[in-house]
Amino acid sequence: MESLARHADTRQRSDTVAAMGEQLRIGFLGAGLIATYHSKSLRRSGADICRAGVYDTDVQRAEVFAEASGHSVMQSEDEVLESCDAVYVCTWTSEHPRQIEKAVARRLAVFCEKPLALDLETAQRMARMVAESGVVNQVGLVLRRSPAYLWARHLIDDDVAGMVMGVVFRDDQFIPIQGHYGSTWRGDRDLAGSGTLLEHSIHDVDMLRFLVGEVADISAHTTNFHGHDGIEDVATATLRFANGALGTLASIWHDNLGRPSLRRVEVFCAHRHIVITGDDWYGPVRWSDTDGTSHSLAGQELVDGVASMRDGGENPDGEFVRCATAGIPATPDFADAVEAHRLIDAMYRSAAENGRSIRVARG
Ligand SMILES: NC(=O)c1ccc[n+]([C@@H]2O[C@H](COP(=O)([O-])OP(=O)(O)OC[C@H]3O[C@@H](n4cnc5c(N)ncnc54)[C@H](O)[C@@H]3O)[C@@H](O)[C@H]2O)c1
Repeated sequence: MESLARHADTRQRSDTVAAMGEQLRIGFLGAGLIATYHSKSLRRSGADICRAGVYDTDVQRAEVFAEASGHSVMQSEDEVLESCDAVYVCTWTSEHPRQIEKAVARRLAVFCEKPLALDLETAQRMARMVAESGVVNQVGLVLRRSPAYLWARHLIDDDVAGMVMGVVFRDDQFIPIQGHYGSTWRGDRDLAGSGTLLEHSIHDVDMLRFLVGEVADISAHTTNFHGHDGIEDVATATLRFANGALGTLASIWHDNLGRPSLRRVEVFCAHRHIVITGDDWYGPVRWSDTDGTSHSLAGQELVDGVASMRDGGENPDGEFVRCATAGIPATPDFADAVEAHRLIDAMYRSAAENGRSIRVARG
């Protein structure tokens, strides 16, 4: 009963923004790399928004962000939460659960960066909280809207491809405590939780589910060359999918500064081979079929090709504003993030037991 009543209140608040033709007021907690990305992306989306408060414990960061974006620097997270209808939580990961809880208590729409939290249990609690309160919620698993991944899934689902049999997913980048990252918190387990699997490859496991399907069991190993306590920098995993396909994931944080975030994904279907390479968003995606033909799609052609396939537009931030303004569910949401957390959690548990196979229980 209580949650239903809260849901009704929430809808009233969202309805007010939409019905009164008011601009959605957006606030930011955290004003670093990804906050700046979202701010620019909001501008590119053309969404008609009111830029409300921003707060960062590093005041200078907040000032630079405000200067560039038109948000107003505020002295506390509470002031930001009071200033807005929807908030982006873009602080380092350890802060997400507490700040989301405060935002949900005020019935704000929430965009939370991935990972939701340092561990599965907390992520599950956060997902329950937003579901019970009925607030619009979205998570930064942005590859869900990538033209390259949408097209690859279309190619896999195509009858011509035949059954999906295997996938090889490689993801590598220089360890992100240097270069354009401009911060070192990813080397601190209290702030980041752990290393390349949770911090980076949560995107990859989300895409493995998206492309191939649910995972039945997992075996994984991790290692730590850099020596930051609890921050693994190489991880490998073998996944057995519920549909019988097998997959491997290799996730590596090295020191080759010439290699920022790079992925290469190969999917093997009975009659089709698909490769996502180059750019995570614009491809190219290459494929070859059993009749000997090969094809490639990239850039605008990819964008045009997937236009009818996605739920809503290409820009994740424009979608968040659209859903928060209308008070309708956004995607990907916290529940999607929990499924990705579940796979990462299984990988860590397996690695802790020297690669023992772990059954993945669905929530
Ligand atoms: N979706 C993606 O592809 C993607 C990419 C990069 C980062 N991220 C995620 O976004 C989050 C932030 O990463 P980033 O690269 O922007 O880091 P960053 O270091 O550039 O920015 C984080 C900011 O949060 C601030 N901060 C910390 N605690 C705070 C608090 N209590 N209140 C207000 N501000 C606080 C820090 O001062 C810092 O400026 C992380 O969870 C990260 O995993 C997601």
